[in-house]
Amino acid sequence: GSPDRRTPTGAATDVPAPAVGQQGASLTTAHGVRLRDTDHSLKAGPRGPLLMQDHHFREKITHFDHERIPERVVHARGTGAHGVFTSYGTGAAVTRAGFLAKGKETPVFVRFSTVLGSRGSADTVRDTRGFATKFYTDEGTFDLVGNNIPVFFIQDAIKFPDIIHAGKPHPDREIPQAQSAHDSFWDFVSLHTEAQHHTMWNMSDRGIPRSYRTMEGFGVHTFRMINAAGETALVKFHWKPKLGVHSLTWEEAQLLSGVDPDFHRRDLYDAIEAGAFPEWELGLQIFPDNAEETFAGIDLLDPTKIVPEELAPVQPVGKLVLNRTPTNFFAETEQVAFHLGNLPPGIDVTNDPLLQGRLFSYVDTQLTRLAGPNFPQIPINRPHAPVNDMLRDGFHQHAVHAGVAPYRPNSLDGGNPFLAGDAENAFLDVPVTVTEAPKIRANPASFDDHYSQVRLFWLSMTPVEKQHIINAYTFELNKCYEQAIKERQLRSLANIDPVLCQQVATGLGLPTPEPTIALPDVEPSPALSQLGHTWPGD
Ligand code: HEM
Repeated sequence: GSPDRRTPTGAATDVPAPAVGQQGASLTTAHGVRLRDTDHSLKAGPRGPLLMQDHHFREKITHFDHERIPERVVHARGTGAHGVFTSYGTGAAVTRAGFLAKGKETPVFVRFSTVLGSRGSADTVRDTRGFATKFYTDEGTFDLVGNNIPVFFIQDAIKFPDIIHAGKPHPDREIPQAQSAHDSFWDFVSLHTEAQHHTMWNMSDRGIPRSYRTMEGFGVHTFRMINAAGETALVKFHWKPKLGVHSLTWEEAQLLSGVDPDFHRRDLYDAIEAGAFPEWELGLQIFPDNAEETFAGIDLLDPTKIVPEELAPVQPVGKLVLNRTPTNFFAETEQVAFHLGNLPPGIDVTNDPLLQGRLFSYVDTQLTRLAGPNFPQIPINRPHAPVNDMLRDGFHQHAVHAGVAPYRPNSLDGGNPFLAGDAENAFLDVPVTVTEAPKIRANPASFDDHYSQVRLFWLSMTPVEKQHIINAYTFELNKCYEQAIKERQLRSLANIDPVLCQQVATGLGLPTPEPTIALPDVEPSPALSQLGHTWPGD
């Protein structure tokens, strides 16, 4: 349909094609005046001085002086690629989202990242990896902003500045760049023990992926879906790499960060350029939308918990192929802006308190990083669906809006009422009941178990994976200056597994503490091991 059904009331007129910056054969100023010379500034005679009136000099230098924008406050280092998502149609049973209809193809842009390092840091450090996907669907943009680890450090977004402050370089010495090998990180995770689960994933081989092409991705939170019949379900998103999950060894990761700090971005770029297009399957774990929002006794709103795949298999709903590298890193990978609130009709949020906080944070930071509220107009961020909003003006406004009454209804531009049919394809806020409980700053009691699933992960590892985990804890904790912090972290390990705790304690030359709780009684989940695992579609 026409992007502009309601013109002239409030719609943007046709947005001009993005300026490519390189039109015509001749070099020009930014205002299109042809230049004769760009190698010599205008001087009073060959020996100077420089003349203030040299507009070209001033334009060139001024623009250069302002080339850098702030790097992302987290996930600063990343690399991106374009691709296509093809839906199998199997998701249509749980969601009316059009991009999950059978056979539907949707263009995507994916940005992979590390979390803690600065823009210039090395790729192969031990860290969580971001896996953010922008689906340019016909019904508006859907951003699936996930990680390669299915749980998060904290349960409430209000702690996000704290965990990041603890993980970023020390304020005094700016050490380290992107590793967990320092006091404040271990101070935080041993004091805020809900972080122990994510931390063990970091200490496992998952913390040092072989390639972005061999990483799983997870939406982490539980989302709510609604289908064409109005039925709702709770879901978790999973990306499964066609190549399987593979990691570096610690020694390889160390060597590579010196020999080739760009190892992961080079790997992705080279693979795509060589035609070895990386592929993932998108899958859903689907749970009944019950009043408790639990499954098998697991609180689905707690982002530090997984649901083992043995209890809720991942059901494939489509395939992602990355088949095109960016033309310009800055324009695409650096300026792309993801946000969890970008949801198509058929997918909605839940009350996970981490998710709820993220809904605020991303746009807020992008207002600074991308200088004002019009960053959705940057080419990489533009929806592929028609846009007809009442947002006006602001820094870097590129649209030229028509009409005199940017509000609705109005009686000046034809009234601009909602049209019949608008509601049919519109986003639906699922009308879930909001509790009448008093407002409170506290977690539900079901969030209090910080150890069962860490033990579950540990017990699911093969002997070689366990040895890698022991080595990682020992290496990283050995970097701490404060013995009290090492001892406190060992007390957490004692609540996870006595062998793990004893081995790390020995490596640190410290006594093995006793557990403070009865060891959780959990079954291993073989699907958590990277070794001997098969993938949907194999
Ligand atoms: C950036 C994932 C939790 C704030 C990112 C990115 C990813 C990500 C993948 C990089 C996006 C890109 O490539 O541009 C996650 C996951 C989380 C989580 C999976 C937990 C499940 C949070 C929380 C907050 C937060 C709790 C704040 C309350 C941010 C901010 C950015 C960011 C401010 C930078 C965005 C930008 O500059 O464009 N996150 N994050 N994240 N995240 Fe998160």
